[in-house]
Amino acid sequence: MFTRHRRLRKDSSIRSMVRETTIMPQDFIYPIFVVEGENIKEEISSLEGNYHYSIDRLEELVEEVNKAKVKGIMVFGVPDHKDECASAAFDENGIVQRAIKRIKELDENLFVIGDVCMCQYTSHGHCGIIKGNKVDNDSTLEYLGKIALSYAKSGVDMIAPSDMMDGRVLHIRNVLDENDYKDVSIMSYSAKYCSAFYGPFREAAHSAPKFGDRKTYQMDPCNSREAMLEIEDDINEGADIVMVKPALPYLDVIKMTSDRFDFPIAAYNVSGEYAMVKAAAKLGLIDEKKVALEMLTSIKRAGADIIITYYALEASKWIIEEINK
Ligand code: PBG
Repeated sequence: MFTRHRRLRKDSSIRSMVRETTIMPQDFIYPIFVVEGENIKEEISSLEGNYHYSIDRLEELVEEVNKAKVKGIMVFGVPDHKDECASAAFDENGIVQRAIKRIKELDENLFVIGDVCMCQYTSHGHCGIIKGNKVDNDSTLEYLGKIALSYAKSGVDMIAPSDMMDGRVLHIRNVLDENDYKDVSIMSYSAKYCSAFYGPFREAAHSAPKFGDRKTYQMDPCNSREAMLEIEDDINEGADIVMVKPALPYLDVIKMTSDRFDFPIAAYNVSGEYAMVKAAAKLGLIDEKKVALEMLTSIKRAGADIIITYYALEASKWIIEEINK
């Protein structure tokens, strides 16, 4: 006697009924890049199909996001001015702060997440304050708190710290609470690895470090138990959602997280993962739509509730087309 597993694969109807994982537009968060200037919608060469937008062109973007039924966006700023302490990052009239206000003006129901980090805004390109030749943890916290507060004042729904300083979730939570922003939530980049997959993003955001690397703050790709400690700490410090980043090369870490913690999990399908699929598709080596949807499904199957992806709009369109077929 053997089991006929193939019975439940007989046709697409039964296959869809026994399907364990489905991805939907509401699973996705779309990262966007906002630049200074006017009338700019410029394709990002390292992230084909994604654009640098000036504030006055955000209306088109908001329309597209709504059409795709995507519920949330994550805002990254590309400022004109950089200095030692990232002052443009906490300027209440800064690029991200104005973008948040504009997006909320266009659609108050679109969920807006602000990435909190300093690397796009510092002259040295590191994610914190430099003392000697090191990124200093505790003095950085104060600046991260200022950035988070300025986003909250602009109307952001959620803060996403991506700097990897210790204690930042607790500090940001305290700053938000003290200023009566108790309903602004925190999605922490808890297990953020020091990954080579961020290359295309750094080109898009002009955020590569000018000296050294990020190994003293981002996690060693060889470790997964350490990721559980990072995640546990962030939960205890007050995070509302924890994140694993990148996604595809760290599916084991996503799975470990979902096995251990009854907590919402996000995964960041980062720029390098996206760019690899785009490039292979361009060479005619793979079927882009099928590979992209399989990749996103695998991230959800591993345990992610939310997927931050440059494919958010395209994948949503493909999924909606499939449902309407
Ligand atoms: C900023 C930040 C980075 C990414 C998100 N926030 C780059 C980095 O840490 O160097 C990467 C996202 C991507 O590659 O898509 N700290």
